[in-house]
Amino acid sequence: MFFGLDLSFYLIELERKNNPMDTMKTQTLLLHQETPDEMQELIRLYAMNSPFRSATAEELIVTDNPYRRPIRPPDLDFIDYRQPLTADKILKLSALMGHRMLRNIYETELSFLPGDKNSPAWQDFELFYSPENIKLGELVRPHLEKHVFNFLNEESATRESFSVAPLKEQVVTAGAEAKARINQTVDTILHADDRPRIMKTFLIQQLSAYRAERETLTRSLIGEYDGVWAHVSRFFSSPSTIQDTPAADRSSLLKRLVKSCGLHIEPHAYWQFYLSTSLALANYMYHVSRDPGKIFRAIGARAYREIYHACCRDQIAEAIRSIYGDHVDTAYYSGPAPTPEQIIETVIVPLAETYGEHAIGEISRGFYENMRLHEIADSDFITQVTWADKPTVYEERARIMFKAIQDQNLQVPLDTFVELSSETSTTHTHDEHRLLVIETGEMHFWTLSGPPMHLRPGDMTYIPYERLHGSTVISNECIYHQPVISPELLHEFEKLFP
Ligand SMILES: [Fe+2]
Repeated sequence: MFFGLDLSFYLIELERKNNPMDTMKTQTLLLHQETPDEMQELIRLYAMNSPFRSATAEELIVTDNPYRRPIRPPDLDFIDYRQPLTADKILKLSALMGHRMLRNIYETELSFLPGDKNSPAWQDFELFYSPENIKLGELVRPHLEKHVFNFLNEESATRESFSVAPLKEQVVTAGAEAKARINQTVDTILHADDRPRIMKTFLIQQLSAYRAERETLTRSLIGEYDGVWAHVSRFFSSPSTIQDTPAADRSSLLKRLVKSCGLHIEPHAYWQFYLSTSLALANYMYHVSRDPGKIFRAIGARAYREIYHACCRDQIAEAIRSIYGDHVDTAYYSGPAPTPEQIIETVIVPLAETYGEHAIGEISRGFYENMRLHEIADSDFITQVTWADKPTVYEERARIMFKAIQDQNLQVPLDTFVELSSETSTTHTHDEHRLLVIETGEMHFWTLSGPPMHLRPGDMTYIPYERLHGSTVISNECIYHQPVISPELLHEFEKLFP
């Protein structure tokens, strides 16, 4: 096995064509596989590259350095990448860090430039595009992809369809389901206490998920294709006869939209506020688009994306205008869009007729996998903003739980931190529920981009597991505690919540 691939067929072929000596050499080269411990160490080494170092207090939003993408390397001392994540663990910290690393790995293939000749970012430019960074990235990439995407393989295996009829049904149903989910998202945004901030968070996730659409789409179109493929590629790259907005141009329209809403558009300015699940959407498209062997899966994934965009855009555009005003540029969401039926007739049927079962199976798989990732991302966004929009509710819950722990003298695991002025925690998640209790000093605490919570001695809050947050100490020293709340204990405490 080589990175999880069965190479026996390849080696038999080599043996048939080559002399035994060549086959032995190839076998030695191909069958070399790092042990899990070695791979763990390679991942740690990859993350140690300077542009990926933890953020400072001044780097909450970075507009002048496209290579500055903090991973939070010290956490790799305890994060275990030895096993792939199962579906129920896909929001764990290892997924957030894994997706941050994958995004960095994929994007060393793209050209990002510093602002001008005098920019200090040139130093990180050299390190980001260094042969060492690229080589280490390529070594760990398949392992990280397996860690975060393997659960999709397991689910797809039970759902694969090899004929057009169920695939057509899948496409039509997906549109209605996507619409229902996005209605829930829009509802959450419109009913938030701080609607502009929650909408801003939504737009930041759009940047994380879809800013690279042009790059991933054009990557799939590189090559020499004629016949049916030429027709399909026209649909995706410049479908002017079907829709006014070519998918490849949407990245530019997305930037125009967020700029008109007052957000920064420099690459990854809001890196620290990307949820792992929005990073996953872009990473999946990179994953399938950069591999010509996965071309049909990439088409299936792209077909889902088109349907999702077409079914969701009206509600989202209206919600954005209702919050920011009619002056915002919502061209990203306007213009005719393909219907599920058009996708079926223009893309799926011609490819299925020409390439048969294999193509249908792969298109179905890409479609399903991208749909699953969108379901997970939609749900994760709602969970994050529902928590972050109600700081007083979670402060109260923290007080109830902390009082119960003290009154009942409950023995719970406790982490205590002593941090000095400006010490900053790059945004991260925990794999367990925690309270945050300030003993002395003061801290800025972020759950969303924008003004932080200002925590003083005696202040506390509740950080549910898998929720993104970060902090900076703003006094000379800050001592704080984090009691860990088990799911069983939380279940008991929930009976005390109003
Ligand atoms: Fe934390």
